[in-house]
Parts: sequence; C-alpha cells; structure tokens
Amino acid sequence: MSGSGGGAPRIDGARLMGRLDALAQIGAIEGTQGNCRLALTDEDRDGRDLVGTWMADLGLELTVDGLGNVVACTEPGRVADSVMMGSHIDTVATGGRYDGNLGVLAGLEVIESVLASGQTPARPLSVAYFTDEEGSRFAPDMLGSLAYVGGMALEEALEITDRDGIAVGDELDRIGYRGPAPVPGTVPYAYMELHIEQGPVLEFHETQIGVVEGVQGISWTEVTLSGQSNHAGTTPMPLRRDAGLAACRIAGEVRELAHNIGDSQVGTVGSISLVPNLVNVIAGAAVMTVDLRNTSEPMLQHAEARLDEIVSRIAEGEHLDAAMRRTARFEPVEFHPAVIDLVERCAAEAGLTHRRMPSGAGHDAQMLARVCPTAMIFVPSFDGVSHNPAEYTSPEDIEAGANLLADVVWRLANGDIDSALAGDRDAAGNGTAA
Ligand code: GLV
Ligand code: MN
Ligand code: MN
Repeated sequence: MSGSGGGAPRIDGARLMGRLDALAQIGAIEGTQGNCRLALTDEDRDGRDLVGTWMADLGLELTVDGLGNVVACTEPGRVADSVMMGSHIDTVATGGRYDGNLGVLAGLEVIESVLASGQTPARPLSVAYFTDEEGSRFAPDMLGSLAYVGGMALEEALEITDRDGIAVGDELDRIGYRGPAPVPGTVPYAYMELHIEQGPVLEFHETQIGVVEGVQGISWTEVTLSGQSNHAGTTPMPLRRDAGLAACRIAGEVRELAHNIGDSQVGTVGSISLVPNLVNVIAGAAVMTVDLRNTSEPMLQHAEARLDEIVSRIAEGEHLDAAMRRTARFEPVEFHPAVIDLVERCAAEAGLTHRRMPSGAGHDAQMLARVCPTAMIFVPSFDGVSHNPAEYTSPEDIEAGANLLADVVWRLANGDIDSALAGDRDAAGNGTAA
C-alpha cells in the first residue's frame, strides 16, 4: 500500500463545534453547559437519532448491533478493513458536553472532511458509538464496547438492571435500538479515540496533546451494610447498629487507603444511600460504592484486599452484616506501541506540544485494544474538571486534537505503519471478535 501522499485533509473546526453544540441541546442541564443523557433513556435515544441522521447524511452504511452499538462505515460491508474512530454519547447524570461526544463527532468530522476533499484513502474509515460507556446507569462501565470485543456475552449484558430493576434489553427495545448486527462485532484494522483528558495534567504542563499510552485498572465494589433502624432519641449510643456511621467510616478509610498506597492509586466513595435517610432515625441499611483505580495490577489487587479488610473490620465493630459485590473490574491496559509512536510523531510534525501519559478514566478504546491496534489522543480539560456540567475544552484545542486524529487516521488508512502492525493483525485476526 502506498504512503499518505498529500496528507490528511484539515477538519472544519466550526462544523465540529456546531455539532457538539447541537448534541448538547439534548438532555441539557438547565442553567449550565452540561448534559444528562444516561444510557438508554429517552434523551440517549434522541441523541442517537441525531447522530444517526448526521451519519446517514454523509452516505455512510450504519449498523446497529444487539446491544445498541452503532458503527457507520464509508464503504458497505468493509468495517473489518476500516480504521475505526469512536467513543460514546451517553453521559453521567451530571455530565459535560465533551466527554465521549468529542470522540464520536470528531470521527464523523474526519470522515466528512475526507469525503469532501475528494481523496480516497486506501482503507475505508468508520466511526462508532458504544452503548453505556459511563456505567452510571448500568454497571459495568464500557458495557457496549466490552461486549463488542467479546468480553461479555450479549445475553448477560441484556439482563443487567439499573437501580430500579429495569433491564438493558427492555430499554433497548423501548428506545428502538436493539439492532440485528451480531455481538461480538466486527474487528476493524485499527481503532483511534480522541477524548478530553478529564484531569489537570495537560493544563498544568501547558501542553496541547496527551499521547495516551494506556488506561489504569478499574475496580468497582458495591457495599451493602445492614444494621438496625431505630429511634435517634431513645437508643443509647453503645446499643446502636448504625449503618450510616459505618458507611462514613469506610469512606474515610478509602481515602486513607489511597493515600497510604500512593503513586497512581485513587479511591472514591461516590454514592451512599441510607435507609430510611431521615433526621431522627438511625440508618438501618446503607448501600455505597467504592471506585479503586491503579496503573499497576498487583497494586490494584492489594487495594482490593485492603478494602475487604476495612469493610469487615468496620462492619464487625458496629455489629452489622456486610455484603460486597464487584460491579466492574478491568485490568490496566497498554495501547499499541507503534500506534502510540505514530500519534507522537504526527503531533511533533504538526508542531503541537505533547506528552505521553496514562488515562485515569475508563474508555471504549481500552476494550478495542483487546482485539486490534489501538491508541488515544487527549486534549486539555479546563481546570481538570469532568463528569461535571462545567467541563470545558477550548475550540482551539478541540480543532488541534481533531486535526491530529485526522492525520493519524489518514496515515493508518494509507498503510504507513502496516509493517509494524502486521504481526498483531495476524494474531488479532480480521473479522468478528471472539
Ligand atoms: C468512565 O467514564 C469512568 O472512567 O468512570
Ligand atoms: Mn468518556
Ligand atoms: Mn465519562
């Protein structure tokens, strides 16, 4: 296959910003720039419909699989040969407008720019959005891409329920996104994802581009504590079995655990629900979540063992029953060295300041990395804020990131690093993920 010749067409930054803005009107959180489009809600459906219209308007071939993952390709039936771009368009309940949406709409923008240029790369291009990346409604996170690469059986994914007991499969049927394409899905030639950093590192170093080397490991645990609900005024302190107190103590110790392990270890208690959650009633039950992450698998396992010990000790001290359920568990992922090098080279040639870094957040790319050569590009997040309506990345940074995506994808599609990827392509196979 020949080299990339004249270079990638430049993307249209205004068009990309316009689409980001239009998508952000769906599920907009009043008085903010943010979004609430939880997976498989009416808002998610409306967002899907809009993005699907844009894909169809470009003449792309759309497929919707049995879990609602959508892939759009420039050439019918050629996803297996394509360079795929993508991410997700669901958000957390307090989401920003860039997380995920940028990767999908930048992919669409790259395709539109290539089509408009009249040049045809040697390989087709595709853009995908995967169902329920956030995992806020249905755990685990990255559910759609996990199943797409064969990491979870479709039947198992369809039966996952939200807090109200509503199943993924029923919601897919309700919003009309349970499609006919098979799960696992078609493995592309390579996968690239542009994403906001969602942290403070690039801004701190006044750097435009993150060359992402991998994603840290993720462990989510739901802890249920059962004690005795009783009168707040009459129950002497030594006789209480207070699930609320225990939940707070566990939250405090999760912070200490992360601090003591150090390095990349983080720990978050993002949700505590107390029952009955009233001012004058001792909480008889608590359901809480613990999110542990580390770039090192052994250290993440160590953190999990520490969490087990903390929960047992605190529950015993308060005479509570404790149950722990792992709702997500992904080992750290390393992206493909040749694709990482390509991103770095393209950034340098474009005169963009850049640095190699791991991802603190989970991404669909970490699932695609299981089956094909994959890497990611980060652009800065203002104040390092994300999963918050205040999330912001400047139009200049977005345009620079999308042009870099175009450049990397163009070179992948024209075979620039075919020889470096050849062995991996043979190993990964070319077709449907196993
Ligand atoms: C998913 O976006 C996560 O990192 O929690
Ligand atoms: Mn995301
Ligand atoms: Mn997110």
